[in-house]
Amino acid sequence: MTRRIRIRTRTGLVAATALTALMTLSTPAAPAARPADLTLGAAAAGTGRWFGTAIAGYKLADPVYTGIAAREFSMVTPENEMTFDATEPRRGQFSFAPGDRIVDFAGANGQRVRGHTLLWHPGLPAWLVSLGGSELRAALMNHVTQVMRHYQGRIDSWDVVNEAYADGTGRRRDSILERTGGDWIEVAFRTARVADPAAKLCYNDYGIEDWTAAKTQAVYAMVKDFTARGVPIDCVGFESHFDHLSPVPATYGTTLRNFADLGVDVQITELDIEAAPPAAYRQAVRTCLRVRRCTGITVWGVRDSDSWRSGSTPLLFDAAGDKKPAYPAVLGELGLNCSRGRTLGPPRPGRPV
Ligand code: XIL
Repeated sequence: MTRRIRIRTRTGLVAATALTALMTLSTPAAPAARPADLTLGAAAAGTGRWFGTAIAGYKLADPVYTGIAAREFSMVTPENEMTFDATEPRRGQFSFAPGDRIVDFAGANGQRVRGHTLLWHPGLPAWLVSLGGSELRAALMNHVTQVMRHYQGRIDSWDVVNEAYADGTGRRRDSILERTGGDWIEVAFRTARVADPAAKLCYNDYGIEDWTAAKTQAVYAMVKDFTARGVPIDCVGFESHFDHLSPVPATYGTTLRNFADLGVDVQITELDIEAAPPAAYRQAVRTCLRVRRCTGITVWGVRDSDSWRSGSTPLLFDAAGDKKPAYPAVLGELGLNCSRGRTLGPPRPGRPV
């Protein structure tokens, strides 16, 4: 079958091509029979989604790194430059230059930005940790307001709260944030909506990909409660750091669909998979593509050497910047689905999750 498809990129509609050529990409051994300008971002755009990467500001001087980052991705997440300790290292004194640099890079390349992250227990400065009670609460919410106002109009989605739930239980993680009162997450989202009404507001976490996990159920209950009570939340980020102890779960699609059914967008926000097996990458991408409200996929770094777990070589490009076997697997999966996205029409009904 030869069918012409259109892929939307930031430079317009391009790459009318044979669907059969894209279908061959779904096998790792496939020849590179694709338009030269087909990239992860362009292929994902054909499904109505973005494909992003984490960016480390100090690597922006590396032309191999910036070349791949600019070419392949349509969304950027600052890896460490927007955490609390990075943006407000001293009380009331903000440091935006490192984050600005990444936002400028994204702007120069027509990419959108996920803000990461406003409130996260490991990324807190020493001055904050010495506060308590209502003073701490006020400092947290002032931080949310000031950072969001600075970036107003330049951030697509914010991870307002990151990793607030404990592993292996349905309980919230014990942290200084928690000790400001059980409603701090809700207050953060309400504060964020006022600070930048146009930004999408996300809760982001790991270990919530398996529907049967207690942590997943707890986060689901929180989002269900928020949506029922009108607490502003637009999206849930599933980090999706997978390895042999925590592989892509069989219930991944069920999880994404159940959250989406609450009326929020879902996103794969920090994808990396130990040893980058093409089949596992294909499975993760397919899972997102089968959920209409799964709006995008971000991998947590460009090359294996850029990964926070570089020893497990979990990414789509090797240390030399060459495409690994998982790359055509992902591209092929996106290409197979490029007529099924929100841009070019609704998903086909009745497909298994
Ligand atoms: C990681 C970064 O990649 C590292 O550079 C940093 O040292 C620690 O944090 N969950 C998150 C990300 O939300 O911010 C983390 O990123 C990985 C786990």
